[in-house]
Amino acid sequence: MLRLDKYLADCGAGTRSEVKKYLRAGRVSVNGSVCTKPETKIDPEQADVTFDGRHLRYRRFAYYMLHKPAGVITATEDTRHRTVLDLLEDVPYSNLSPVGRLDIDTEGLLLITNDGALAHDLLSPAKHVEKTYLCRLAAPATEQDAEAFAEGIVLEDGTRCRPALCEILPDGALVTITEGKYHQVKRMWAARDNEVRYLKRLSMGPLVLPDDLPAGAYRELTPEELHQLKDRDYARE
Ligand code: URA
Repeated sequence: MLRLDKYLADCGAGTRSEVKKYLRAGRVSVNGSVCTKPETKIDPEQADVTFDGRHLRYRRFAYYMLHKPAGVITATEDTRHRTVLDLLEDVPYSNLSPVGRLDIDTEGLLLITNDGALAHDLLSPAKHVEKTYLCRLAAPATEQDAEAFAEGIVLEDGTRCRPALCEILPDGALVTITEGKYHQVKRMWAARDNEVRYLKRLSMGPLVLPDDLPAGAYRELTPEELHQLKDRDYARE
């Protein structure tokens, strides 16, 4: 059983304090009768709840993929810069967070959710979730770079990275890493005496940035994507 105000907030009707106002205003009905009490206990699977006459479907968590553009920071709030959450307009959830972090100048796939357990799993160092980045570089990538990535790059501060895949492209490289150290890809290339000029995350675990999602745009994960994400088998332990 769940409090009605929590149920409404979970469904995305508003924040806990907003939904209390909606309840007081008589905008919510439970099983056909107007209900004004936030503390009313309901069974989320059984109750027929309407808000302004619309039937709600109980949904505890929300999952969005954002094509992060350069120039916004991966944070929930900031006094100076726009954040990735500022880009999620028309999203009714107030408790969303980005899963992991992309630098201000990095573009690409960013998962944003209020499912803390899933976020924790995806970021867990033990899970080795694969992330693939498109890198444009100051100097061409070489076979020696690919070999060094496969062996495990030692960063300039002495930190050894796990073996990574480096696929050479005519104008850069695709790098797949299974960890998430601070500025990792840029520091890996710095350790190879090269410099990242442009960085874009193309995938994270089973999630792939779709071609038709332009920079700055976002959408909810499809049921199929969510299913794949929750299927832990994709993460090599
Ligand atoms: N590695 C980096 O150096 N920067 C990012 O934003 C992501 C991975």
